[in-house]
Amino acid sequence: MMEKKVKIEKLEKLDQETLERLIEIYMKGYEGMREYGGEGESYAKRYLRWCWSKARDGFFIAKVDDEIAGFIVCDNDWFSRYEGKVVGAIHEFVVDKRYQGHGIGHKLMEKGLEYLERYNDKVELWVGEKNEGAISFYEKYGFRKVGQSGIWVRMVRKNEKMNASPHNLSTEEGHSEPHSRRVD
Ligand code: ACO
Repeated sequence: MMEKKVKIEKLEKLDQETLERLIEIYMKGYEGMREYGGEGESYAKRYLRWCWSKARDGFFIAKVDDEIAGFIVCDNDWFSRYEGKVVGAIHEFVVDKRYQGHGIGHKLMEKGLEYLERYNDKVELWVGEKNEGAISFYEKYGFRKVGQSGIWVRMVRKNEKMNASPHNLSTEEGHSEPHSRRVD
């Protein structure tokens, strides 16, 4: 595994085969943590479809050879009622159990944060309170625990560099130059 190359890509389309693979990763990824992600395959299917419709520009996958090994879903247009404004959100982040602990999560997180930093000054996520592995992972990226609702802990990260104002898509398409100055 360690010899193999990991590629991070934007998911281009959610066809049936891809959806099935993502469901499998989701189900296996949360093995042993049923309360945080084990609601079953039909829930996973609906949830992943919702993620795709809500945040397709920030849906990144990790590929090892041609196999999808994990994914992260980053939403740059999430109204947080806790923050009272639009923030970035990480809706889902999971690596296939077989591939965990080899740095794929770090690669996905770097890609996801680089994406959200272009749009949002804050990023919010919710994680299971006993999911210490993920919580310590997030803390390494500057996320802090700021609240709790039931079994879910809310974590927030302040983005350091903001290259664009929220929802300013100009960086995406290449910054438009100021209109040519007239030399009269
Ligand atoms: N025990 C110890 N450390 C853990 C554990 C664990 N059970 N799980 C994750 N980690 C952390 C450590 O901080 C470790 O840090 P290090 O690199 O300094 O040693 C790091 O994960 C390992 O990094 P990677 O190998 O890059 O991470 P991986 O590829 O395993 O992906 C992920 C991390 C996505 C959290 C993976 O463990 C996973 O899929 N877990 C199950 C699903 C999950 O909990 N997802 C997050 C839910 S919250 C949400 O989606 C918003």
